[in-house]
Amino acid sequence: MAKCTFSDPFEKARKEVGIGEMDDQNDPVKMVLGHKDVRRCAHNHKTFQSGAEPGRIVVPSEVNIRDIRQIPFEVDPPQHGSYRAVVEDWFKRPLEEEYTAQLEKQIGVLIDEALTKDSVEVINEFSLVLQSRALTLLFNVPFSESETWISWGTHVFRSEETALDAGKAQVLYDYIDKKLEESKQNPGDDFYSKLLAAEVDGKKLTDEEIKGVVVLTFSGGRDTVINAVTNSLAYFAENPASLERIKNEPEILNFAIEELVRYFSPLTHMGRVATEDTQVCEHAIQADTRISLNWASANRDATVFEKANEVVIDRKINPHVAFGFGTHNCLGATHARQILKVLIKTLIKKVDSIEILEADENIETLGEFKRKVGFNSIQMKFN
Ligand code: HEM
Repeated sequence: MAKCTFSDPFEKARKEVGIGEMDDQNDPVKMVLGHKDVRRCAHNHKTFQSGAEPGRIVVPSEVNIRDIRQIPFEVDPPQHGSYRAVVEDWFKRPLEEEYTAQLEKQIGVLIDEALTKDSVEVINEFSLVLQSRALTLLFNVPFSESETWISWGTHVFRSEETALDAGKAQVLYDYIDKKLEESKQNPGDDFYSKLLAAEVDGKKLTDEEIKGVVVLTFSGGRDTVINAVTNSLAYFAENPASLERIKNEPEILNFAIEELVRYFSPLTHMGRVATEDTQVCEHAIQADTRISLNWASANRDATVFEKANEVVIDRKINPHVAFGFGTHNCLGATHARQILKVLIKTLIKKVDSIEILEADENIETLGEFKRKVGFNSIQMKFN
C-alpha cells in the first residue's frame, strides 16, 4: 500500500451505530463518528462541556499529570469568548507580509539543506525543525529559541507511550516560568509580554492563566503540524502529478491545503464531558461521562464527502472539521495553513522529486480501532 494512504478505521461503526467505544484509564470515551453528530455535539457546549477538570477532555486523559487549565481550550462560553478575544488578533499575524516572508526564508533554507543530503529522516530533521522555527514567528521571539524547542524532541508533549509523564511536562513548565519572569523584567513585543499586559473583563490575567495559554500554544501546534507537514510530503512524493497540477493551476492551492488537512486529520478527536444524562445516535450518555468529537471519522463521512477516502486535490466544497468546529475551532489554523502554503510553493520552486526510502508508521489504538496518524520515522530523499 502507498505510504501516503491513510485508511478510515471508523467507516463500519459510523455507518452502523454512529458511535465507537474505547477505554482510557478507566474513564471510557464514546466517540461520536458522523459528521452531522460531531458538529451538533461541538456546538452544544452546555451539554458537552470543555471546561471540566483540567486534562479530562484530552484523550488519553491528562488529569493525573496536569492541574493547569489550558486556555481558552478548557473553558466554555461565555468566559471562553473573553479569553479568546485576548489572543484572536495575535493568531492572525501569520497573514502579515513580513511573517510570510520570514516563513519563506525558513522553509527555503530547510529544503536547500534537504537537497544536499542522501537521506533525510523527515520527522526529526525536517518537520520538527520546521515546526519549532516557525513557532518563533508566532511567539515573536528570537529564532535561537527554536534550538531549545528542537532539543526537547518530538516526545516532550506527547500523551502516548512515555508521554503520560509529569516529569517531561515539567521541562516545558519550567521553561515557561523562566520566560515569563524574563518578560516581566523586560517587556517586549513577544507573546509572553502581550499576555502579561492583557486584561480579561477588566482584570489582568494571572500567571496560572498565562501559563495555560502558553502551554496550549506549544502543545496544540506540535504533533499536529509535524504530522501535517510529514504526511503532505509523503503524499507529494507518491503523487508528483498533484504538485505539477498546483504549479500549473495555482488557483487550486488553497483547495489542496484544505483537502490534505481533511484527509490526514492530524488530530483524531477531542473529548467533552456530559453535564447531564443525554443521548447521541440513540446511545445513552450519562452525566459526568466522556464523549469525543472524532474529527478524523467525520472527515471521511461519505454522506458529506464524495470519494471520501481519496485525496481530491482540487476539492471545492470541503466542510471538513480537521480544525474543529464552532466555539473552539483551531486558533493556530492560520499559522498551520500558512506553513503548508509556503511549503508547497517552495517544493514547486525547488524540488523535482521526492523518494520515500523507509517508513515506520505511527498507529493510534482507540479501543478496537487502529488509526494511522503519521510516522514515527520516515526517510526521504529530495531531488
Ligand atoms: C483547537 C486541530 C494547529 C492551537 C483545535 C481543535 C482542533 C485543532 C481539531 C479543536 C479542539 C476542540 O474543539 O476541542 C489542529 C490541527 C492543526 C492545528 C489539525 C495543524 C494542522 C495548531 C497550531 C496551534 C494550535 C499551530 C498554535 C500554535 C490551538 C488552540 C486551540 C486549538 C489554542 C483551542 C482554541 C479554543 O479553545 O478556542 N486545533 N490544530 N493549533 N488549536 Fe489547533
